[in-house]
Amino acid sequence: MPSSFLHSILLVSTLCFSGALAGAESDFDWRKLNASKTLNWTPCYSAPLECALLQVPMDYSAPQNEVTASIAIVRYPSTSPKSQYRGPLLFNPGGPGGSGVDAIVGAGAQFAMVFGEQFDIVGVSYSTPTISFFKTEAERRFLIPSPTTVFFPSLNASSSSLADTYANMQLLGQLAIANDANGYLQHMSTDNIARDMLSITEAFGFEKLQYWGVSYGSVLGATFATLFPLFPLGTLVPPGLTLVFLPYLANFTSHMLDTDKSMDTFYSGCAQAGPQACAFHAPTASQVAANLAALTASITAQPIAVLTPQSHGILNYVFLRNAVLNALYDPYNLFAALAEGLAALASGNATLLYAQNEVPTFECDCTVPAPAFHENSFEAYMAIACGDALPVNDTLAQLQQFYEDGLKVSAFADVLSSTRVVSAGYKIHREGRFTGPVGAKNTSFPLLLVGNTFDPVTPHADAVKTSLLFPGSAVLTQDSVGHTTLVATSDCTFSYYRAYFVNGTLPAPGTVCSVNAELFPSSDSNAANGTAKRTTENLDEIRIREATSRIGSVVRKILRRAL
Ligand SMILES: *[C@@H]1O[C@H](CO)[C@@H](O)[C@H](O)[C@H]1NC(C)=O
Ligand SMILES: *[C@@H]1O[C@H](CO)[C@@H](O)[C@H](O)[C@H]1NC(C)=O
Ligand SMILES: *[C@@H]1O[C@H](CO)[C@@H](O)[C@H](O)[C@H]1NC(C)=O
Ligand SMILES: *[C@@H]1O[C@H](CO)[C@@H](O)[C@H](O)[C@H]1NC(C)=O
Ligand SMILES: *[C@@H]1O[C@H](CO)[C@@H](O)[C@H](O)[C@H]1NC(C)=O
Ligand SMILES: *[C@@H]1O[C@H](CO)[C@@H](O)[C@H](O)[C@H]1NC(C)=O
Ligand SMILES: *[C@@H]1O[C@H](CO)[C@@H](O)[C@H](O)[C@H]1NC(C)=O
Ligand SMILES: *[C@@H]1O[C@H](CO)[C@@H](O)[C@H](O)[C@H]1NC(C)=O
Repeated sequence: MPSSFLHSILLVSTLCFSGALAGAESDFDWRKLNASKTLNWTPCYSAPLECALLQVPMDYSAPQNEVTASIAIVRYPSTSPKSQYRGPLLFNPGGPGGSGVDAIVGAGAQFAMVFGEQFDIVGVSYSTPTISFFKTEAERRFLIPSPTTVFFPSLNASSSSLADTYANMQLLGQLAIANDANGYLQHMSTDNIARDMLSITEAFGFEKLQYWGVSYGSVLGATFATLFPLFPLGTLVPPGLTLVFLPYLANFTSHMLDTDKSMDTFYSGCAQAGPQACAFHAPTASQVAANLAALTASITAQPIAVLTPQSHGILNYVFLRNAVLNALYDPYNLFAALAEGLAALASGNATLLYAQNEVPTFECDCTVPAPAFHENSFEAYMAIACGDALPVNDTLAQLQQFYEDGLKVSAFADVLSSTRVVSAGYKIHREGRFTGPVGAKNTSFPLLLVGNTFDPVTPHADAVKTSLLFPGSAVLTQDSVGHTTLVATSDCTFSYYRAYFVNGTLPAPGTVCSVNAELFPSSDSNAANGTAKRTTENLDEIRIREATSRIGSVVRKILRRAL
């Protein structure tokens, strides 16, 4: 099944870096703007948003070169008087390739409400030059089909899965080279994105970065703090993350440390919740797990064809693995639905589980050129994450060994280890790029690192390890399952974010925040769907809570979105 292999790519991007696609909210035609070295704001999307295209060097080692890149920047402008204006607060939703523009278009007002009107709330995306591995969108969709909203390859789909994935990644890596006649791709790297953030901060007339990065955004933040520790660091919050050690080493094993524990919360939560709240209920966690294993075996033996009004496809082993992983990313919103889908599947109806994860059938004018780089999450992911990393020259046997070692860490190694196979295909690595290690003895302001207890792809231990590399930094823990702290609203977590950005206050060591959500909400609970329980009558608190809830749902969509 070569084509289903390629799907896997997407999965990888979403998994490892909570990859995301930009462009969904692109009703604004960025081509109307002229790129410039200064920020010339034009109204865009809906008021009061403003957009600008900032010209930056394509090659930061030769900034005088004529070739420039331009960055699409959107801001939700500060309304404070000049004396209180605090400059830009940059937000990065991960990926690499997640669109900060979509985040601010979707929730700029809510960011401003939470962090205060003294900031310009800023999100960025790539703009030009457009870079793609493919000549047309149709070619891209053919080579990277995506049958589910999240899609990772599984190295366990068949006996040839690893070899097929490897060959497909070699193909994509060679297409990247073939379509990169100008040699731009080598400049797509985390260190250059950090340099872009400095360019943006300076274009606003400020020196120190104020930044909140989620998932891969925290790798970016830690890289920035390493490259520019003293002069331009304001505040930096990497919540729920910490792939800091991993991408530069192309080692994707330790990011699975908490994956199985995340899965266990489904089993135990379902057993405890009872059949009303969890449709896939069994009396004990191990029985729920055994029932899922039996269902997986049955769907492996006999995949099921499904047609819905939106699309059609096959519910097979890989689809099922992805449906489960998708729910692990966003459990407060998806566990109960996953349980319903599994229960229906167990009783012979595959439609519900399929429909929960399907993407609309692709239709296009086959002649349209491939879209801009920033709209291609997978390409951005492969170029940046694999391009950053040390070259992976592993043989198939070595990749197989890597996968088997991964299985000692997590039962999801079949999907989560495939990232190294992706990296093995990508051969564009700029000489002299930053390859770690991260860390700085003295940053101009202490970093705040935030991790949640059970994150399926960014373990809490990484927040702690990262903190040790930045003396003076603080770790805040959110007691929740899922990918990043944005899986559910937490008044507590957001109060620390606010205190940090507004007052520069760090949480006391050992601070743990809980969330206002349940994994399997009972029907009389209003905590369903990631929304907050009404535990307060204070109107300000309610408004802030609604705002944080909106930020969470917009960013979760970006973290999860696939082609
Ligand atoms: C971009 O430049 C062109 C040509 O100089 C000009 O006509 C146009 O108004 C400019 N657009 C904006 C948004 O400034
Ligand atoms: C791989 O698939 C086989 C069945 O095809 C199954 O028995 C085994 O548990 C799977 N391994 C993993 C790690 O999921
Ligand atoms: C990846 O990291 C794990 C421990 O986190 C280590 O055991 C393994 O040798 C590493 N693999 C490679 C290929 O670097
Ligand atoms: C299967 O489930 C779908 C979605 O829940 C439902 O619309 C459909 O009627 C079911 N099919 C059968 C044969 O029960
Ligand atoms: C991969 O190959 C390149 C050159 O082909 C070499 O410089 C590099 O050291 C190799 N990397 C590893 C991890 O073996
Ligand atoms: C760390 O940097 C800050 C800001 O530049 C400076 O004030 C402080 O003295 C430095 N501390 C150490 C221990 O070097
Ligand atoms: C900032 O500090 C002031 C003064 O201590 C306090 O009143 C305010 O609540 C703090 N703001 C935040 C967001 O923590
Ligand atoms: C969650 O809430 C949103 C918005 O209110 C709604 O569109 C969506 O269907 C809900 N999802 C579930 C699983 O209830």
